[in-house]
Amino acid sequence: MAELSAGSWVLWPLFIMLCVSLCAAGCPCTDPRLCEPITDSRDFEVLVFYTKGKNWKFYDWSQVTTIALFGKYDPELLCFAHSKGARLVLKGDVPLPYIVDLKNRTSWITQKVELAKSQFMDGINLDIEQSVLKGSPEYYALTALVEETTEAFHREIPGSQVTFDVAWSPDCVDERCYNYTGIAESCDFLFVMSYDEQSQIWTECVASANSPLNKTLSGYQKFTQLDIDPKKLVMGVPWYGYDYPCLDLEDNNCTLKEVPFRGAPCSDAAGKQIPYSKITKQVNSSLTGRLWDDVQKSPFYNYKDAKGQFHQVWYDDPVSISLKSAYIKKLGLRGIGMWNGDLLDYSQDPIAETQTKDMWNALKGVGLL
Ligand SMILES: *[C@@H]1O[C@H](CO)[C@@H](O)[C@H](O)[C@H]1NC(C)=O
Ligand SMILES: *[C@@H]1O[C@H](CO)[C@@H](O)[C@H](O)[C@H]1NC(C)=O
Ligand SMILES: *[C@@H]1O[C@H](CO)[C@@H](O)[C@H](O)[C@H]1NC(C)=O
Ligand SMILES: *[C@@H]1O[C@H](CO)[C@@H](O)[C@H](O)[C@H]1NC(C)=O
Ligand SMILES: *[C@@H]1O[C@H](CO)[C@@H](O)[C@H](O)[C@H]1NC(C)=O
Repeated sequence: MAELSAGSWVLWPLFIMLCVSLCAAGCPCTDPRLCEPITDSRDFEVLVFYTKGKNWKFYDWSQVTTIALFGKYDPELLCFAHSKGARLVLKGDVPLPYIVDLKNRTSWITQKVELAKSQFMDGINLDIEQSVLKGSPEYYALTALVEETTEAFHREIPGSQVTFDVAWSPDCVDERCYNYTGIAESCDFLFVMSYDEQSQIWTECVASANSPLNKTLSGYQKFTQLDIDPKKLVMGVPWYGYDYPCLDLEDNNCTLKEVPFRGAPCSDAAGKQIPYSKITKQVNSSLTGRLWDDVQKSPFYNYKDAKGQFHQVWYDDPVSISLKSAYIKKLGLRGIGMWNGDLLDYSQDPIAETQTKDMWNALKGVGLL
């Protein structure tokens, strides 16, 4: 016993020295190697937005390459993602008027790099959905922000990934008049949010699909017409729909209350977002069951609520998603992703299990007909 305690006195400083270098200041993983950044590049990206809870345990990890942390940091998720070779990246958002100033921009970037390092993370997903006018100070500051953030992350965290979320089309959708070409050039890739495509309704104020096929494809066409390499584009698909209360419902034509958005007279803000996990339950007890719009290539249904109000729900399911994901190869895109990974029913219920598996498989273009 005496010998052992004498020995440990001698070893103690050595142990501290080792830990300072090896325990990497608080690595939460039992295997310290899992705190090293992921450095290998994948030729097909599957980016998942994580928002809450422990559903990540049931994600299809044979597909996932990046988790964007839009919920609380979970060390268990970090260790697990790294054990699967998947990156875990921060969410980045900052008011643009604030980072017009170079000092402020640099300090924001430094803070994010330090946060990522202290949590053993692998990059950042910039989710700046603010209105920007072409040629404004914010326009130039945003391009600079992406360029400088990418430079800092790549330099400080080897193999790290910096990505930027864009609307379904670069045509100043939602007044996001950004320098898309400059932004795409400087970061690793753009995540194209091919949803919320009714955020600005310029025609009749009626309910329609969240992610209609043709409109979605026209968005990618516009990005590539700007000379953006398709390999810099990841297709984002929705795992949610919109529930619209109808002012009037005639021939499946659901008239909406006028809710203006960024210059447009009507918008999807007349409805509310509803997770796929809820849709799968509601559709069977709806008035119509699942209907299919063959122009928009999207399913929808009508229902009447407890107060007698008619609603129309537009959503995406494995059929509509696989019709879109089937274009990834044809268009030469970098990969796919969804908003968001936690909108499915991950319970042990056998029907839910099948529906959830089908949604994950739809990312690979495996549809159900
Ligand atoms: C830069 O940051 C400082 C300190 O946070 C703030 O007071 C100032 O308003 C910022 N500059 C701009 C242009 O927003
Ligand atoms: C966009 O950004 C790139 C890179 O910074 C720059 O070369 C280009 O001139 C910018 N284009 C426009 C239209 O502002
Ligand atoms: C749907 O309703 C709107 C508003 O009442 C009307 O203008 C439009 O013609 C209708 N469309 C169809 C396809 O019935
Ligand atoms: C709803 O109906 C479909 C088609 O009949 C069926 O496959 C599915 O299991 C049902 N879902 C639930 C939650 O009962
Ligand atoms: C969808 O796009 C294709 C190809 O651009 C076009 O041929 C077709 O007419 C479009 N369909 C609708 C309903 O707009």
